[in-house]
Amino acid sequence: MNRQSKADRSLTGIIRSRRTIHNFKEEPVPEFEKIIKALDLARWAPNHHLTEPWHFYLPGKETVNRICYLKAEITREAKNERAAEIKLKRWQQIPGWLILTCANSPDPVREREDYAACCCVAQNLLLLLWAEGIGAKWTTGEVTKEDRFYDLVHIDRQKETVVGLFWYGFAAEIPATKRKPVAVTVTVLP
Ligand SMILES: Cc1cc2nc3c(=O)[nH]c(=O)nc-3n(C[C@H](O)[C@H](O)[C@H](O)COP(=O)(O)O)c2cc1C
Repeated sequence: MNRQSKADRSLTGIIRSRRTIHNFKEEPVPEFEKIIKALDLARWAPNHHLTEPWHFYLPGKETVNRICYLKAEITREAKNERAAEIKLKRWQQIPGWLILTCANSPDPVREREDYAACCCVAQNLLLLLWAEGIGAKWTTGEVTKEDRFYDLVHIDRQKETVVGLFWYGFAAEIPATKRKPVAVTVTVLP
């Protein structure tokens, strides 16, 4: 992706070539400014009633480390010490971290629409990062649903819900994936 051709940098090329990145190079993460720029732009998503329900959390080294240890703790509880150690090592190698939340609402229609808007922001973000040669993964793994996680990142679960934990960095490998033929997903009505 870092070596994209000119043609690939079109919107079509970026949408087509973006992949969920599971493995990152050990290079330092892209400059903070690039990430902030992507977050700024990503917010230009459709949003019914302009509620702007999103919030981004950018955990620093200390918080990231605490998240990694929480993951290890959860793995230890579910499996064993060896599995926990492997997870801890793997998570500590992930170069870039950010968390996207959506504001809760007492109105279920608004909450659903706000979540939809946050998902638009998330996809914008993934595409903007990819356009800059930065790979990312949107994850909603078990950790992000834990009270312990909310406490650790100081997110009030009465007020906000985690839409995703996003890992980013330079891709070590770009996985292949596929989609069904478009005809299968389209119904033309009279
Ligand atoms: C809401 C959401 C949650 C996801 N959570 C995970 C996850 O927990 N673990 C994971 O490996 N991938 C996760 N993904 C990434 C998907 O697995 C990935 O998008 C899918 O396999 C298609 O691959 P692609 O993104 O490369 O097109 C998530 C994607 C979305 C939209």
